[in-house]
Amino acid sequence: MKTKIVTLEEGLEEAVGLIKGGDVVAFPTETVYGLGANALDKEAVKKIFIAKGRPMDNPLIIHIADKAMIDELTVDVSSQARAVIDAFMPGPITVILKKASCVPDEVSAGLVTVGIRFPKHTVAREFIKACGLPICAPSANTSTKISPTSAIHVYEDMQGRIPLILEGGDCQVGIESTIIDMSGDTPTILRPGAITPQMLASVLGEVKTFSGEIVVAKAPGMKYKHYAPSCEMVVASSVENAINAYNEHKALNPVILAKSEYIAKAKSLIDCNYIDLGKDDEEVMRNIYASMHQAQNKYDYIICQDFGDEGVAKSVMNRIEKASGGKRV
Ligand code: TXA
Ligand code: MG
Repeated sequence: MKTKIVTLEEGLEEAVGLIKGGDVVAFPTETVYGLGANALDKEAVKKIFIAKGRPMDNPLIIHIADKAMIDELTVDVSSQARAVIDAFMPGPITVILKKASCVPDEVSAGLVTVGIRFPKHTVAREFIKACGLPICAPSANTSTKISPTSAIHVYEDMQGRIPLILEGGDCQVGIESTIIDMSGDTPTILRPGAITPQMLASVLGEVKTFSGEIVVAKAPGMKYKHYAPSCEMVVASSVENAINAYNEHKALNPVILAKSEYIAKAKSLIDCNYIDLGKDDEEVMRNIYASMHQAQNKYDYIICQDFGDEGVAKSVMNRIEKASGGKRV
């Protein structure tokens, strides 16, 4: 199969045709690129799992371009859930709700709940609207690889496995959506993202963050290894530790990923390879996956700054901890 990259103008008709014909299409969102299919077509949904090499017990989230669709796909939406939907959709959040019977088990992996996401990206919205269907989509990467934040990332990872990629530029948020479970009595964040616990608490009063060990598949994806670059990656607790690790691994052609200020300090101490992630945490969030893609293509040992646990930095660290397998220097 040949994989094409097209703009919305060139390729919308073809993309809609593929979705209606039961095939998959990669498309941009503000968080990461997704690999979409008609959420109501079991056979189309299966193609996503095959293209990604994703375990079938890991459920997919459904993307919509119109809030009215929520009532078709879910039941028993609480007033608290509505408040979250009104405050943050469209935007980088996925809300877990009780599913309606029209949602196939292939999408929800047999769970009684389903994740709903209304992306803000105009290409995503126009694509979903033109399909006129709910579109289920995981991130458009093969299982365990780094999530894609550009059409080229999708192409490098998935060429030959999918027919079409809609081009939509670089993702402006840069990490996957915040997932909040609103299907039970206590709103619980299952995956941190750009919508922080503080922002959610301003609407809900109180919100819990899931931190338990995954035994039963509550947030099934959490039990799988994720976001891993193809070479070793470590988190450095200080600039000094970063430099020591750099010197010890010189034979591997290492690279330091950090904020501008940190890079400036490292460069004043040694001559090193580096990728500047930007000045603030929002920029770091936007650039982190792209920098991991770049680093794994060019270097063999990645040393990453510890960005701390304030606001979105904590969400970024959640991804970095997984990418590094918790390894620290
Ligand atoms: O930003 C995003 O959310 C991107 C873009 C494409 O929208 N999508 C994305 O999908 O990150 P995916 O499949 O890579 O991650 C969704 C996560 C998985 O870890 C999955 O296990 C979890 O959501 N999930 C899906 N449905 C669930 C449910 N009903 N209950 C709990 N967790 C669920
Ligand atoms: Mg993913």
